[in-house]
Amino acid sequence: MELIFPTVIIILGCVALLLLLQWKNLREPPCIRGWIPWIGAGFEFGKAPLEFIEKARIKYGPIFTVFAMGTRMTFVTEEEGINVFLKSKEVNFELAVQNPIYRTASIPKNIFFALHEKLYIVMKGKLGTFNLCQFAGQLTEELHEQLENLGTHGTIDLNNLVRHLLYPVSVNMLFKKGLFPTNKKKIMEFHQYFRAYDEGFEHGSQVPECLLRNWSKSKRWLLAFFEKNIPDIKTYKSEKDNSMTLMQDLLNVIETETNEESPNYGLLLLWASLSNAVTIAFWTLGFVLSHPNIHRTIMEGISSVFGTAGKDKIKVSEDDLKKLPLIRWCILETTRLRAPGAITRKVLKPVKILNYTVPSGDLLMLSPFWLHRNPKYFPEPESFKPERWKKANLEKHVFLDSFMAFGSGKYQCPGRWLALLEIETCIILLFYYYDCRLLDPLPKQSSLHLVGVQQPEGQCRIEYKQRKMTSSGAEEGKGLLKERLPFIH
Ligand code: HEM
Repeated sequence: MELIFPTVIIILGCVALLLLLQWKNLREPPCIRGWIPWIGAGFEFGKAPLEFIEKARIKYGPIFTVFAMGTRMTFVTEEEGINVFLKSKEVNFELAVQNPIYRTASIPKNIFFALHEKLYIVMKGKLGTFNLCQFAGQLTEELHEQLENLGTHGTIDLNNLVRHLLYPVSVNMLFKKGLFPTNKKKIMEFHQYFRAYDEGFEHGSQVPECLLRNWSKSKRWLLAFFEKNIPDIKTYKSEKDNSMTLMQDLLNVIETETNEESPNYGLLLLWASLSNAVTIAFWTLGFVLSHPNIHRTIMEGISSVFGTAGKDKIKVSEDDLKKLPLIRWCILETTRLRAPGAITRKVLKPVKILNYTVPSGDLLMLSPFWLHRNPKYFPEPESFKPERWKKANLEKHVFLDSFMAFGSGKYQCPGRWLALLEIETCIILLFYYYDCRLLDPLPKQSSLHLVGVQQPEGQCRIEYKQRKMTSSGAEEGKGLLKERLPFIH
């Protein structure tokens, strides 16, 4: 009896310990699930997703799950979780995005899954840093054409200005020279449908298309635009060299693998190349123009590299850009502050993070927006401080640690260096030829976007005056302005 009692206690103790260990292993992160079946916390989350995430982090700690619209999203906010997100083989990019891709571009999931890696390799090569010089010349040329349409002076909503400059430039560069419409009615149509598609993209990626009539109309218009133009894109030959455009290379892969011509990938590339880059160009110009010291220093830099502003027709090379690091720092600092709300991966097998096990099937979520506001990684996180980028080894193409506006890991944004080049060239040419000032305070950010960068809430007008006027140029410019800049009037 004396021996049996301690033995039973030891056995019970071992069983309890085993159970505890097992329970700890299987313990899932705290879950916010609301009380409505399937919808879960969907309504509250959807109203202000970024605010919701931050409140949940404060209440539940560095890892938590949000159940909304039948989906479990597990947010990671600190090192251990971030490392799993970026490095674990048990999490997957394609499976996380194939649903939204199907909804927004109607690319069947199996096709997306089969082609993704091949298409990504093409994009990574074509838009990589070694290849960027190919784009520099066309970028300057196309931007000059668009700037000429501005005329000698005017006032315009800053967002419309950057759209006017960057939509045609990106479309003509990535798809085929001359693809962007040149007649007033068609330009307006393109702007109208692309903006509607872009503004509804987040909803469109979650809700069945039949519930979003207007958005669905814009999607169909854009798909028809590509359907009509794919034969021309395919046969296009560059006059300067024999180089293929990015879309031509992608179409080659798609056709070889599927035997089909796909306008759907055209739509996807269009959105990826315009949506974030145009918004970041807007915010960068806004931040620079509302910081007079920074604006002045940039102007001095431009004059030191290109001579007196406004004097000559200039070309912007990669070497010129290296002499103007402050512009790149301003773009990156802007991108830090307006970063996407979340990037996502699907959990394939249960993964351990801190003391929790995240079950397979969950979407693992990482918020660049909030990561960039953690003072541990970015001191004085709310301040616009381009000088913090001095520490980044940008010559070697390395960003600051914990900067994730372009995602990270295997499928980081392949267009990031082109985006920087486009915005830099746009700022240099605009400031070189025009004296610019904001007429309104910079609007607030909407802080609503999980999928892309944060949009402005409201308008902000910019006044621009040509630095050097020639009498004939002035007249010519004004005429073109009326013809080709429909939103000005
Ligand atoms: C400031 C501008 C931009 C920002 C902030 C941005 C951000 C991002 C982010 C966060 C991702 C997801 C990465 C991940 O999940 O790890 C992404 C993917 C992507 N981006 Fe960008 N991007 C920008 C500009 C561009 C441009 C100009 C292009 C095209 C020329 C582009 C093409 C793409 C493509 C094709 C993907 C999907 C890659 C894949 O399928 O794996 N992006 N971008």
